[in-house]
Amino acid sequence: MSTKKPLRIGLIGTGLMGRAHSNGYNRITNFFPELEYTPVLKAVCSRNAAKVQAFADQWGFESIETDWKALVARDDIDAIDICTPNDSHAEIALAAAAAGKMILCEKPLARTLEEGQIMVDAIEKAGTDGKPLKTTVWYNYRRMPAVTLAKQIIESGKLGKIYHYRANFLQDWTINADLPQGGEGLWRMDVGAAGSGVTGDLLAHCIDTAMWLNGAITDVSAVTETFVKERMHQLTGKVEPVGIDDACIFHCHFANGSLGLFESTRYARGHKALYTFEINGADASIRWDLHDLNRLEYFDHRDDSIVRGWRSIHVTDGDQPYMNKWWIPGCGIGYEHSFIHQVADFLKSLETGEDCSPTFKEALQTQKVCAAVIDSANSRSWKDTNVEGNFV
Ligand SMILES: NC(=O)c1ccc[n+]([C@@H]2O[C@H](COP(=O)([O-])OP(=O)(O)OC[C@H]3O[C@@H](n4cnc5c(N)ncnc54)[C@H](O)[C@@H]3O)[C@@H](O)[C@H]2O)c1
Repeated sequence: MSTKKPLRIGLIGTGLMGRAHSNGYNRITNFFPELEYTPVLKAVCSRNAAKVQAFADQWGFESIETDWKALVARDDIDAIDICTPNDSHAEIALAAAAAGKMILCEKPLARTLEEGQIMVDAIEKAGTDGKPLKTTVWYNYRRMPAVTLAKQIIESGKLGKIYHYRANFLQDWTINADLPQGGEGLWRMDVGAAGSGVTGDLLAHCIDTAMWLNGAITDVSAVTETFVKERMHQLTGKVEPVGIDDACIFHCHFANGSLGLFESTRYARGHKALYTFEINGADASIRWDLHDLNRLEYFDHRDDSIVRGWRSIHVTDGDQPYMNKWWIPGCGIGYEHSFIHQVADFLKSLETGEDCSPTFKEALQTQKVCAAVIDSANSRSWKDTNVEGNFV
């Protein structure tokens, strides 16, 4: 019999993220045994009863629901985990806030800045003792050990004054003009369901990481393109205009005086999920690549000139972030571990009373940059982001 305090989870959506989060909850007690809280997989919800039952059996959920409203209404659930497409994040979060539940929400927080603001207002209103309801948004890349190490290196001042931040998120899965839009599996292609294309789906990750590492983005100038203008819609059966951005490039200023350059596309043949960033400071530079996620590249100009060069740090040592929880130095971890780490940090935050960043309010800052990017591209002009504070 466990002596741990239960955190009773109700998870909605059984796709890619439903699996990633369920894996996170299932692994946590084996690898983070010191935590006071343990997740209890009370219920999972998806619309097809047979499929959601199979999911519950596979991942160890105690019960199922086919209507998320019934899940949110249950009083044996403490926290709602939103793993559905972007068009339901706000509606579910508002209901969960009204029911006083903690909320773990997938990114992007919402389809638009306006929707995101309503979500932030709701969790602030539903909070107690002057504190908003407990929330977190799954910008999971922050919790890749090599990315967390990048944060520690920047905070130590090793890079010196930062001049440049450069990030890419490149894919190639929508090049085929016969690919339909909308519906199961292809909701990302439908602007009504997704809110935007690569900006909210991929650049949102890059922006979250960038502001976490390098502070607020103050203003942006963007260009977007929709290469295939019309696609069959799976739900209506009709050929309809495509409203998402297939590609987006923007440059920007950070509050610390550095310049940013960001590119994302689903038309970069050969690239599946090439998320990379590079930061150049006066004294040192770092870069990271999701395809080689256990490594952080580091160049330090202060090194003796005869051995100076880019180092490839294999981030697997127990001294490095999160790695004392896993195997032995030299043995790497994977994509799924970033979600396990976020579960661990969320449970820890219940013990400490601190935030598990990014909260809804922090994720809203990323939403502001996404909105400014789309606005800038549409108006062909520079836009202020109005991001609050220096963010980091
Ligand atoms: N953090 C990350 O790296 C990351 C990666 C992928 C997706 N995401 C985000 O996660 C969310 C889900 O993406 P995904 O790739 O898992 O999508 P998916 O299409 O694989 O799964 C979506 C699931 O939601 C279910 N669903 C849809 N509407 C529902 C409703 N009204 N009620 C109950 N269930 C419903 C679908 O049946 C499906 O099971 C999106 O917001 C996406 O942006 C984040």
